Amino acid sequence: MKRSAALILTFVTASAMAGPFADGNAQTGKKIFDDNKCNSCHIGKVGGDGSAIFTRPNRIVNNPQELIDRMHFCSGAVGMTLTKQKEQDLGAYLNQTYYKFK
Ligand code: HEC
Repeated sequence: MKRSAALILTFVTASAMAGPFADGNAQTGKKIFDDNKCNSCHIGKVGGDGSAIFTRPNRIVNNPQELIDRMHFCSGAVGMTLTKQKEQDLGAYLNQTYYKFK
C-alpha cells in the first residue's frame, strides 16, 4: 500500500514537471537553438549572451501559446522551418530554462 502510494506520487510529480512541451526534448532544443544561432539578434537587443531577452521584465511572451507563436516568427528570421517536433524541443528548452510555464 505504502509502495503504490509512492509510485503514484512519483508519476504525478513527473507529469507535472513535463509541463506544456511534454513531447519535447530540452537537450535537442538547446542544440537547435545553438545551431541556428538564435541568440545572435537577441544579443544586439539585450547584450550579454542574449538570453536576457527571455527574462527581461517587459518580455513579450507570457504563456506557452505566445512562446510557440514567437518561435515560429523568429525561426523564419533564421530560415528554419519549425516542424511540430522542433517546436516541442525548442519550447521544452526555453520553457524549462527560462519561462517555467506550468
Ligand atoms: C533576425 C533576428 C532574430 C533571430 C535570428 C532570432 N530572433 Fe528571437 N527575437 C528577435 C527580436 C528582435 C526579439 C524581441 C522582439 C520584441 O521585443 O518585440 C525576439 C524575441 C524572441 C522571443 C521572445 C522573448 C520575450 O520577450 O519573451 C523568443 C522566445 C525568441 N525570440 C526565440 C527565438 C528563437 C527560438 C530563435 C532561433 C530559431 C530566434 N529567436 C532567433 C530577433 C531574432
